[in-house]
Amino acid sequence: MPTSTLMAPNSARARFKTLIWISLGLTALFVFITSEVLLITDYPMYHAYRLQVIADRHILIPHTLSGVLALLIGPIQFSSRFRKRHLKLHRVLGRIYVVSVFIGSFTGIALAAGRPGLPGTSMQAAAWMVCTTAAFITARNRQITQHRQWMARSYAVTFTFVSSRVLNLWPRYWSHLGDVLAAVGVIAFTLASLLIVDLGLNWHELTTRRD
Ligand code: HEM
Repeated sequence: MPTSTLMAPNSARARFKTLIWISLGLTALFVFITSEVLLITDYPMYHAYRLQVIADRHILIPHTLSGVLALLIGPIQFSSRFRKRHLKLHRVLGRIYVVSVFIGSFTGIALAAGRPGLPGTSMQAAAWMVCTTAAFITARNRQITQHRQWMARSYAVTFTFVSSRVLNLWPRYWSHLGDVLAAVGVIAFTLASLLIVDLGLNWHELTTRRD
């Protein structure tokens, strides 16, 4: 068989992976500008929320720092080339990711405390910590396939920070959602993210019939 035929599935997979990461990166950039930059510059639609964010700053600062760490470390950890070349650094970053997820989760719960969003945020935080702990334990047990799968689920929850803000600029989404729907929305985004990842992980089995 010619080498090019043998290489084809792998290089197609690599291209697909690159495409996914570029799309996620562009989405994160879009959300950063349309949610965070506009929040800082006091965009009128976000004014009331801005006052709440300022009041919450003592919890929000560690929350944001740990969340950003998790968001940035994730893509580095998924790079096979990086893992092969810098295994020790992969382990160190992995531990920082786990600690960030736990700090991000508990500060997230503290931010939601006393508000209607608490049940939704608690479920999101629980999913984040469970997937990340399972990823950590499978890594310690050298169950590398399962470790990768749990990391994909964990990062899917990390990414809900971005996905749940994609529609923020749409006034009807922002101001008409109401507290209850917003809380349900958090759970829906978490569930959908996990389902999408699991469909992706099982794509081959879902699309290929065994002989
Ligand atoms: C990638 C990870 C994350 C980052 C960088 C991050 C960062 C932030 C920032 C900057 C804010 C205030 C501005 C805004 O709402 O846009 C915020 C709010 C909040 N975050 Fe996160 N976050 C992350 C993940 C999470 C997760 C997984 C949870 C759930 C456990 C969570 C719970 C919350 C809550 C409850 C608020 C306050 C929202 C409100 O009062 O309406 N965050 N986060």
